[in-house]
Amino acid sequence: MDILNKNSNISEFILLGLSSSREIQICFFVTLILVYAAIIVGNLLIVVSVMFDHHLHSPMYFLLANLSFFDLCLSSVATPKVISDFLRKRKTISLWGCMVQMFFMHFFGGGEMSLLIAMAIDRYVAICKPLHYKTIMTHRMLTVFLLLSWAVGLIHTTSQMAFTVGLPFCGPNVVDSIFCDLPLVIKLACTDTYVLELLVIADSGLLSLVCFILLLISYTIMLVTLWHHSFSASSKALSTLTAHITVVTLFFGPANFIYGFPFNSYSVDKFLSVFYSIITPFLNPIIYTLRNQEMKAAMKRLRSQHIVKHRRVTKAVVFLFINNTQSKQFKKQY
Ligand SMILES: *[C@@H]1O[C@H](CO)[C@@H](O)[C@H](O)[C@H]1NC(C)=O
Repeated sequence: MDILNKNSNISEFILLGLSSSREIQICFFVTLILVYAAIIVGNLLIVVSVMFDHHLHSPMYFLLANLSFFDLCLSSVATPKVISDFLRKRKTISLWGCMVQMFFMHFFGGGEMSLLIAMAIDRYVAICKPLHYKTIMTHRMLTVFLLLSWAVGLIHTTSQMAFTVGLPFCGPNVVDSIFCDLPLVIKLACTDTYVLELLVIADSGLLSLVCFILLLISYTIMLVTLWHHSFSASSKALSTLTAHITVVTLFFGPANFIYGFPFNSYSVDKFLSVFYSIITPFLNPIIYTLRNQEMKAAMKRLRSQHIVKHRRVTKAVVFLFINNTQSKQFKKQY
């Protein structure tokens, strides 16, 4: 708190949002509520299915469930405030709130990035070293991957925010987006931010670009490997791979664009930031479940289990009720 207010004479930022038209804002409000609800339900469904269905207890699905967990966190950093902001005329956020938003955005974003790489390694071993899969992708390896993802997220965000938190802000304080985005906020500081800008370009832009290129190369190698095998045997693997490639492109595409050229302020940036913070978490469950027979089967089992439980409870209630009325009648009669 103190560091923030010491050298800044403004206490809040004003967010411009996506549009100034009232009708369009209400339209965004309704759409975003529905999308956010779908994000929560879809990703929770994946986490619950993987946790409770032993058919899905394999490294690939554990990683997928953890990705869904990251998606839940990432979309919850800014979306609830963004939604309620659509109904406000003056959208403000405190200096502190802004810093917290950026911290967690990059924390979960960096974590998700590392997890996508772990998922690629998992598929690479499965396709290119199938005989060693069981010995390489052990439970310990999975735990290492998960811990690394959280650590990368933490180091990534701390390395940038450590220098951002102390920046002096003395106006203007208008952020042309729906939530605080690192390049936009750094530009508002009333000091020379050249070194910090370079740091952000290297830390966010270059990192995501390098990861993206490495991922594309490794997925290409996997596709070529599959192509050399007989096609019928590998069509399941192929559909898994295309799902992964779609998600990787959806996540890294906008991130590369925003952080590759962060200080040029294109007006499309705010729409792109909607993309990786809301659209990708929304699409992930759809992409992974619609094309995946095992996932669909697991969800069916989950539903039928639920119905069986529901029936049992109903039966028990009816039984108690009947017993109760019978004993009352019994008492009445005698
Ligand atoms: C993440 O993966 C681990 C396996 O290492 C698993 O035990 C855990 O349930 C997963 N987390 C979630 C939220 O599904």
